[in-house]
Amino acid sequence: MTEAPSPSQRAPRLVEITDDNFDAAVRVQVREDQNRFVAPVLRSLAQAYTNRDTAWPRLLMDGDEAVGFMMLQFDPEEEDPDFQAEIWRLNIDEKHQGKGYGRFAVEGALAEARRRGLSRVTVSWVPGEASPEDFYLGLGFRKTGRVEDSEVIGEIFLD
Ligand SMILES: CC(C)(COP(=O)(O)OP(=O)(O)OC[C@H]1O[C@@H](n2cnc3c(N)ncnc32)[C@H](O)[C@@H]1OP(=O)(O)O)[C@@H](O)C(=O)NCCC(=O)NCCS
Repeated sequence: MTEAPSPSQRAPRLVEITDDNFDAAVRVQVREDQNRFVAPVLRSLAQAYTNRDTAWPRLLMDGDEAVGFMMLQFDPEEEDPDFQAEIWRLNIDEKHQGKGYGRFAVEGALAEARRRGLSRVTVSWVPGEASPEDFYLGLGFRKTGRVEDSEVIGEIFLD
């Protein structure tokens, strides 16, 4: 007999990426026209390997479905404060956008930053049509005024 999932398995949650969920993670895909805003999950996971002291990659699960991927960089040694605690990647699968998962993932990232005692998190985005700019501004991020490699840098202060 299979056991019913516990409430924590049914609710959306950010989980570590392991051999068991790696395939589900790399299947998370944004819409084709959104590929210019975020790297594919496979590339992010390769970068998580080459930045394994600082990268914080997580799969967003709801029930037994992988609905999104996010990766932060936590690097207290980094001299540039805009890259010490940064939302590096956020990919909500095209089938699951507009259901609150992006907001959930960002809130989870901010909770992790608070847990680490941090007071500020940044994110950078490619501006333009269909960009995630209004998504981040709606969640309370503000533009810092800095643009780096054509990406707008936003910030949020944690209570
Ligand atoms: C941007 C993205 C992460 C948003 O995730 P999502 O799960 O669709 O967003 P949510 O359902 O959590 O939306 C939260 C709020 O933001 C709004 N929102 C979402 N995407 C938006 C967008 N592109 N522009 C403006 N508002 C947006 C929603 O309407 C919602 O508003 P509400 O709370 O007033 O109803 C997702 O669309 C995505 O993966 N896009 C492609 C990749 C990308 O741009 N990643 C970010 C790289 S920095």
